[in-house]
Amino acid sequence: MLKAAVIGVGAMGQHHVRIYNQLSSTRLAGVADADQEAGERIAQLYHTAAFTDYRQLLEETRPEIVTIAVPTRHHHQAALAALEAGCHVLIEKPIAATKEEAQELIERANILGRKLMVGHIVRFDPAVQALKARLIMGELGRIFEVRCRRLGPFPVRIQDVGVVIDLATHDLDMIRYLTGQEAVRVYAETEQRLHSAYEDILVGSVRLADGTIGVLDINWLTPTKIRELTVTGERGMFLVDHLTQDLYFYENAETNDESWSAISLLRGVSEGRMIRYPVHKYEPLKAELEGFIQAILEDKPVPVSGEDGMIALRLAQALVQSGREGKSIAFNS
Ligand SMILES: NC(=O)c1ccc[n+]([C@@H]2O[C@H](COP(=O)([O-])OP(=O)(O)OC[C@H]3O[C@@H](n4cnc5c(N)ncnc54)[C@H](O)[C@@H]3O)[C@@H](O)[C@H]2O)c1
Repeated sequence: MLKAAVIGVGAMGQHHVRIYNQLSSTRLAGVADADQEAGERIAQLYHTAAFTDYRQLLEETRPEIVTIAVPTRHHHQAALAALEAGCHVLIEKPIAATKEEAQELIERANILGRKLMVGHIVRFDPAVQALKARLIMGELGRIFEVRCRRLGPFPVRIQDVGVVIDLATHDLDMIRYLTGQEAVRVYAETEQRLHSAYEDILVGSVRLADGTIGVLDINWLTPTKIRELTVTGERGMFLVDHLTQDLYFYENAETNDESWSAISLLRGVSEGRMIRYPVHKYEPLKAELEGFIQAILEDKPVPVSGEDGMIALRLAQALVQSGREGKSIAFNS
């Protein structure tokens, strides 16, 4: 059993504690939170130790694996401390506040021979996993567009980053994951309506190396939560509803049956059948932590690397820059 600790037990970190407590492969060593009351409340709930200083948690409990779920501006310092203490580290997304910080974490993890994973949880959505399997089987043919809608109300607790770094990083990682392609150019329109310091609305595009287009429609200004993904290609369109973990396929009637195996030229698009695929549902965070633990126990690469986290962060930063400067930005991964 691996001894697990969580640094930062707010909205997200407390779920890491709950799952480490549930898994048969881990047992809780303790939690740290600068807010003593918050730390003690979670520690009591899961019968573990609470610290206000994460360095003390690391020294006294000697965990083998640590989740970092403090606000993004503190990721670097807390993750570095955990790596230097000999721990394998899972950092909540985004990996860090700057690419220099992200780079240092990747380098230190390599030098110290520790695993470093980034919590890009959307990859572990069972509907996204089912979609990925179907894309690998070639069920969509060539992919033309990946469109992500991530809309909802303003989360008052997020003060240190804007909506692009906080939310678009989810979709930027997912676009790379689903297509296996890297970005070559980004463009964004951004605005700041409610947030005191950063942008809270993004309409963005990402051009991938093979010509696939990623579209991002993301904000903190919509009074209902929408989490939707569509992937359009030769044979139709897949739709994922992240909130219900449902996967749908809208068939292009022009490309069914005999043309299934060899589409060299897309001759047309017309409405075909709509299929709702059965998806075996589970909690994405549990699958994420299991993936992290399996990589440690079997000494395999982690499912989402520090480099993946850094590319998502750099893409998000390029979108912020594009929005500020009003021009497209060339991107080299
Ligand atoms: N994967 C996801 O879907 C997802 C969702 C929400 C948040 N997150 C990420 O998780 C991280 C935390 O976000 P949150 O929404 O849980 O924030 P939060 O404010 O609810 O929780 C952060 C906690 O960290 C504590 N903290 C702050 N500074 C600390 C320090 N120096 N040492 C120890 N504790 C400290 C705070 O007291 C608080 O309890 C962020 O990086 C965020 O991007 C990811």
